[in-house]
Amino acid sequence: MKVVKEIRAFQQISEFYKCSGKSVALVPTMGFLHEGHISLMQKAKAENDILIVSIFVNPTQFGKGEDFDKYPRDIIRDFHICEKAGADYIFNPEVSEMYGEKSFTKVSVSNVTEKLEGDFRPGHFDGVATVVTKLLNITAPRKFYLGQKDAQQNAVLKRMIRDLNIDTELIVCETIREQNGLAKSSRNTFLTHEQKQKASALYFILNEGKRLILEEKISDADFIYDYASEILKEKAPEFELQYYKITDNYFLDEIKDLSLYNGEILISLACKAGSTRLIDNIIFLK
Ligand code: PAF
Repeated sequence: MKVVKEIRAFQQISEFYKCSGKSVALVPTMGFLHEGHISLMQKAKAENDILIVSIFVNPTQFGKGEDFDKYPRDIIRDFHICEKAGADYIFNPEVSEMYGEKSFTKVSVSNVTEKLEGDFRPGHFDGVATVVTKLLNITAPRKFYLGQKDAQQNAVLKRMIRDLNIDTELIVCETIREQNGLAKSSRNTFLTHEQKQKASALYFILNEGKRLILEEKISDADFIYDYASEILKEKAPEFELQYYKITDNYFLDEIKDLSLYNGEILISLACKAGSTRLIDNIIFLK
């Protein structure tokens, strides 16, 4: 496994693999890797000849007052995890290498970015879209792999590669969970033992939403929201539910009356457990 820190050096590697006809996969990460990332790497490696993992905590996707400085980092541990998972290359640039002294260009996707997370993290998806465009330009993967946990990020990136005709494909892989249902996330390290236990309520209320829609045939989204937030209040009264929304999984438009809708449904939520912000979702067909 080779660790590369320079953009130009990586672009030469990418050019070589493009000419060789080998299929290259990218797993973009911000490091502090967990089982979710490992399962992405394993799938990417199984489906392609060459596996690249990028490790870069991208400052432009963190807003003011968010946890960029505090974001967990352990690069040596990450290298070992990548090597064990079969990575061929790690791209691990410094912030100065990625953005230089000044950067005047950003990639901004409209519509799908303005809902859900958009209300709470203004500018976040500009940072994500810009850094992912840069990573795709540098590593030129045939496919790149991300987890379903960041459903809105996936919708934004799918829109972006379609709108900008970027020659790659986003493969979305299932969310890997703790035994109690809590979605694996690098930020879970900030949770206390008690918060981790109580956070099982999040996956529970997502599944309850699905059950009410598919089994109880409830079509009033407001009813489902009230029901879910009541359960969360009982199970984890100190958690603050920021949103719990039922949308389609393409434009992420809210579906208020489910009786009129058939297709893929995304129920997504964001919740604060103390100072840690957790997101999760469930996707199913109606
Ligand atoms: O999902 C993440 O870890 C990040 O948003 C990504 C895609 C690596 C871009 O920084």
